[in-house]
Amino acid sequence: MTASLDDASRAAHGELALRVAPMPADVNINGDVFGGWILARIDLAAGLAAMRRARGRVATVAVNSVQFKQPVSVGDVVSLYTQVLRTGRTSITVAVEVFAERGHDAPVTVKVTEAQLTLVAIDDHGRKRLLPEFAAQAGDDC
Ligand SMILES: CC(C)(COP(=O)(O)OP(=O)(O)OC[C@H]1O[C@@H](n2cnc3c(N)ncnc32)[C@H](O)[C@@H]1OP(=O)(O)O)[C@@H](O)C(=O)NCCC(=O)NCCS
Repeated sequence: MTASLDDASRAAHGELALRVAPMPADVNINGDVFGGWILARIDLAAGLAAMRRARGRVATVAVNSVQFKQPVSVGDVVSLYTQVLRTGRTSITVAVEVFAERGHDAPVTVKVTEAQLTLVAIDDHGRKRLLPEFAAQAGDDC
């Protein structure tokens, strides 16, 4: 647990990709934010990191792992950090860490979720394509 989002950004691995606040419509019957709401933002954040790395379109091929460590509530400010862990010929594996800042008077920031996703570089037709460093060597064929 850290005190502020500045501390979270020091604790997080990678770059801030997205910062967002859940709304009352995003909570489940327990009053916690839906896991699917968090997963959608994780997918978006990973996609932004992979798109930059692939210099073009990407598609998520796998959510390799996801762990919900703490619930998220309305009023939390949710920050997603991304780090490219490895690349293959067409794929990019991205780690996403999600932190929530809560409490106005004495704010605390907790890591709420972590995930790893694999995304694949795709062309305009949705077919996989080589990452730029391989495309430069071998033409555009996979
Ligand atoms: C992404 C897509 C174009 C990949 O095409 P494909 O012919 O199936 O690709 P391959 O099986 O050859 O795999 C491509 C790369 O992804 C990796 N990959 C495939 N499945 C994987 C998995 N389950 N976990 C991790 N990596 C995986 C492969 O290792 C390969 O990596 P490399 O080229 O860096 O060595 C195709 O699967 C697709 O269109 N999927 C749907 C994508 C989509 O709609 N996503 C949104 C859903 S919410």
